[in-house]
Amino acid sequence: MMPESGRGASAGRPANDERMRDEHPAVVLQDLEGRRRPAAHIVAFANEKGGVGKSTFAFHCAVALTHSGMKVLVVDCDRRQQSLHHFLEARDGTARALRVPLPRPSHVVLDKQSGALLLQEIERVGRDCDYVLIDLAGQDSPIARRAIALADTVVTPINCSPTDLDALGRINAVTRRFRNPGPFAEMVTALRSERVGRGHTGFDWVVATNRVRHCEHRLIAAVEANLATLARHLGFRTIQGLTERIAYRELLPFGLTQLDLKMIPELGAARSTNLRELRQMVEDLRLPCFSPRGRFPVAARLNAAVTERTARNYREAMTAAITLRDTV
Ligand SMILES: Nc1ncnc2c1ncn2[C@@H]1O[C@H](COP(=O)(O)OP(=O)(O)OP(=O)(O)O)[C@@H](O)[C@H]1O
Ligand SMILES: [Mg+2]
Repeated sequence: MMPESGRGASAGRPANDERMRDEHPAVVLQDLEGRRRPAAHIVAFANEKGGVGKSTFAFHCAVALTHSGMKVLVVDCDRRQQSLHHFLEARDGTARALRVPLPRPSHVVLDKQSGALLLQEIERVGRDCDYVLIDLAGQDSPIARRAIALADTVVTPINCSPTDLDALGRINAVTRRFRNPGPFAEMVTALRSERVGRGHTGFDWVVATNRVRHCEHRLIAAVEANLATLARHLGFRTIQGLTERIAYRELLPFGLTQLDLKMIPELGAARSTNLRELRQMVEDLRLPCFSPRGRFPVAARLNAAVTERTARNYREAMTAAITLRDTV
């Protein structure tokens, strides 16, 4: 966690911690300020808690945006896992193998965790992009701070569980009153304040629930009440993200989402509830220029030049992957 002011560290943290002092919001903003800011709208998918759906959200958003005709660059800052990069590589492979004109985002992995390199890669690969989506690893880091400081929209997926709110803040279980911000929220709000203090606009911080199971009514109500309290104190807005559905992961090995199935009807049909939920999630992010009803998605058929064998292999692999769809 970062010190609350440039003068020293807050309780329990070493006052002379050089590393943390380097990461004070003022230092992060200074590091970015001297450099050219990309024209694209930047969305950072961030939560220092792991496994909450950052890469899943980033992937589905990237696909939704490209389907609506937007040019998108995806920067995968999670160089250890590179999940998003792998999904997008698989997507390139599927488009090539099936000769389907799947709309595809450009994508890069950020090898060195530096703000200068982040901006350089955005300039190099995404100069004419409408959106840059940055997927962050599930931990605090210098690059996470720089990506958040640079973003126009910060999307924080959270699992719909009280313990998952701890990174945002703590609520007294009896009085339901706000107790204190969590480490991640402290970092995000400090970066936002620093930005505003330097005369820039703040960013839109959106907390999106994920893996919601509608059977857990009471838990959902408790989490929503706590989120509303945290939102008031921390200045984020909440959206209904995604429910728990196999549909959001079964096609990932092929680099596909439910939104793509209309383009490859031979491989099966998407469920309208899934499509509605996905479109609503992206719409609720209120990204500029995004129209979910626009050119999205375009129906196509397998290119006649695709060999029967390739098509059959894909059909078999995907059928095997999606037969579980009805179990959740
Ligand atoms: N709405 C959902 N329904 C079903 N499965 C989901 C959903 N969201 C995420 N998952 C699954 O949960 C797991 C974690 O998701 P994901 O990798 O997107 O999280 P992450 O926050 O990026 O994790 P990390 O911090 O490790 O990068 C994955 O197996 C993913 O397929
Ligand atoms: Mg991830």
